[in-house]
Amino acid sequence: MACGGADGCPVVPLRNGRGVPVLGLGTSHRGGYSHDAVVHALRQCGIRHIDTAKRYGCESLLQKAIKESGVKREDLWITTKLWHSDYGYENTKKACMESCERLGVEYLDLYLIHWPDTHVPGKSNQEVRAETWRAMEELYEKGVCRSIGVSNFLISHLEQLQEDCAVTPHVNQVEYHPFQRPQELVDYCRSREIVFEGYCPLAKGEALTHPSIVQLAKKYGRTPAQICIRWSIQNGIVTIPKSTRAERIQENCKVFDFTITQDDVEILNGMHDGRHVSWDPSLIV
Ligand SMILES: NC(=O)c1ccc[n+]([C@@H]2O[C@H](COP(=O)([O-])OP(=O)(O)OC[C@H]3O[C@@H](n4cnc5c(N)ncnc54)[C@H](OP(=O)(O)O)[C@@H]3O)[C@@H](O)[C@H]2O)c1
Repeated sequence: MACGGADGCPVVPLRNGRGVPVLGLGTSHRGGYSHDAVVHALRQCGIRHIDTAKRYGCESLLQKAIKESGVKREDLWITTKLWHSDYGYENTKKACMESCERLGVEYLDLYLIHWPDTHVPGKSNQEVRAETWRAMEELYEKGVCRSIGVSNFLISHLEQLQEDCAVTPHVNQVEYHPFQRPQELVDYCRSREIVFEGYCPLAKGEALTHPSIVQLAKKYGRTPAQICIRWSIQNGIVTIPKSTRAERIQENCKVFDFTITQDDVEILNGMHDGRHVSWDPSLIV
């Protein structure tokens, strides 16, 4: 695997020949946004992958941080997401161009449909997702989006989309941390060459005080956050921890100079209890 910044960060190959750095920086409306932390991540930590969304409201702020960092556009992997208020064929194309404008870029490395639920009265979810995906495919063909994908899609949503699409999603971004390891979905994605990307790798901080994780951190002389991030990576999952604090971003990037033994990976794998920290599962139909 090629190197994607962050001191030895490997790049995970996509079906279309592109490669996404396995470790990225999350941003979101929850917990705030820090300009200085993003600049630090890019300049000092070698982060080359940023995850954002229209919904997070920080695309324009990211444009400023990227500019200030001096990192070249072609050295960066930028993911943003389409919010459900913009679903549908025309709206999707417009929303994508608006995201590009806010981010100050001519193309996106990855554009994701943020949620499977579409909230369009009088139309089925499948119908709206299919129309939306047609626009995503067009954006991909034009090169505005160099890869396209989905987020929070379950197997049933992916199967439905498969009936309607010409291009299979390159990525599915889903919650993934020691308490939430949806292995069936991971296996399904892999069988279709859909790269599995995991969000909330620290379970929004909940995983960092769990006694087993604290114990493993002591054993490896690492921090609980590093154990969670390294575990995701060793399971082959692209991961995007978020922090608004420069020193924590630095810490979260130092995960390429140690290996968790398979026995300890199994301990972490065994912690899945099905809990979601990001959303209420009843919201997805
Ligand atoms: N596709 C989707 O629907 C979706 C949903 C949720 C999230 N995401 C993406 O995934 C990213 C990550 O998810 P997330 O932010 O919800 O959860 P997360 O990365 O699991 O956890 C972030 C929390 O952990 C804290 N933290 C980070 N590093 C730490 C460290 N080394 N030690 C102690 N605490 C630390 C942060 O606080 P401080 O800021 O104070 O450090 C923040 O409160 C988001 O930013 C977003 O890009 C996508």
